Amino acid sequence: MIKKIELKNFRIHKNLNIKINKPIILIEGNNGIGKTSILESIYFISTTKSHKTNNEKDIIRKDQEFTSVLVETNDYKLGITLSKKGKHLTVNEVTKKKVSQYIGYLKVVMFSPEDLNLIKGSPQERRFFMDAELSQSDLEYLELLIKYNKILKQRNILLKKIKVDDDFIMLDILGNQLFDLTIKIREKRIDFLNQLNCILLNNQKDKNFLIELEYKHHLDNKKLLEHYLNKQNNDILHKTTQVGAHKDDFIVNLNHQLAKTYASQGQIRLIVIHIKTAILNLINQQGNDNVVLLLDDVLSELDEENQKEMIRMLLNMKQVFITSAVPLGIHEENIQIINMEDI
Ligand SMILES: Nc1ncnc2c1ncn2[C@@H]1O[C@H](COP(=O)(O)OP(=O)(O)OP(=O)(O)O)[C@@H](O)[C@H]1O
Ligand SMILES: [Mg+2]
Repeated sequence: MIKKIELKNFRIHKNLNIKINKPIILIEGNNGIGKTSILESIYFISTTKSHKTNNEKDIIRKDQEFTSVLVETNDYKLGITLSKKGKHLTVNEVTKKKVSQYIGYLKVVMFSPEDLNLIKGSPQERRFFMDAELSQSDLEYLELLIKYNKILKQRNILLKKIKVDDDFIMLDILGNQLFDLTIKIREKRIDFLNQLNCILLNNQKDKNFLIELEYKHHLDNKKLLEHYLNKQNNDILHKTTQVGAHKDDFIVNLNHQLAKTYASQGQIRLIVIHIKTAILNLINQQGNDNVVLLLDDVLSELDEENQKEMIRMLLNMKQVFITSAVPLGIHEENIQIINMEDI
């Protein structure tokens, strides 16, 4: 579990050192003081990504050249430095050249207000979610994805240069590779959603609140291959690869209706919490019971009954970080309260 966090130039934090000594950590303080940024830094050290932005430079403190995060767990010292030159990853002070060699030392599940986009947001946001969760628990998936993105980039560069009467040899090779990788990525994503569906069904005490996730793609496997091999002109015209794993999506149903248009605001929040809980269960099933849970402003939004259910669940966790702009008034032996105003 996490014992120490050191941030340099991470968003609002110029120099922040925190020692952790309890399983439940409440981070309290006024709006804008930097609570979410601390959770973001833990997510970052776990996944090498921000949960808030795709543009990673955003996390570097304004007018600074770099940011660095150092997190010590019971077993490892994890470090990331991000600058214009890129990302430098270390485990126990040894450099890891590939993200796939770095991922997996610390697993996290994050609940944040942005997660409501899982239901309300764009396909891109749902793919980001699937990719992030799967990459954490399945290294093979991460490697597939990295390979896929590399080939996709090559094919898109080629599509910007090529003319319809040029030969398509290279385009076909890349198309074939994208097809093979899409099949594998789809299999893993569908399997992931099915596993979540099973857990969701199991966790459901209230039978009137049935959540189901369903994979969606524009073209099935057969039509996809046909596109890559016979409809190249279409992509050349648009100068980009229009189909494949990078365009797929999933939908969320509540009681067999599309949650996006059917569920209430509160229900959407609950659906997201249920999905996140299912992910946590899934990671635990895979033999990791040392997942760190990050809760950004979630408890304060729930009604009393749901809040109680959430706290009951938290007591089973090895380590939980919770932020709140209002003091939650929970004082227990195994809770460490960090008041940002005191730091
Ligand atoms: N790159 C950056 N450099 C400096 N400051 C930044 C940077 N990015 C964001 N900030 C600032 O960091 C502050 C802290 O944001 P953060 O989201 O962590 O606060 P918070 O305590 O979670 O607030 P809230 O209670 O409103 O959720 C904001 O005031 C924001 O303006
Ligand atoms: Mg916040």
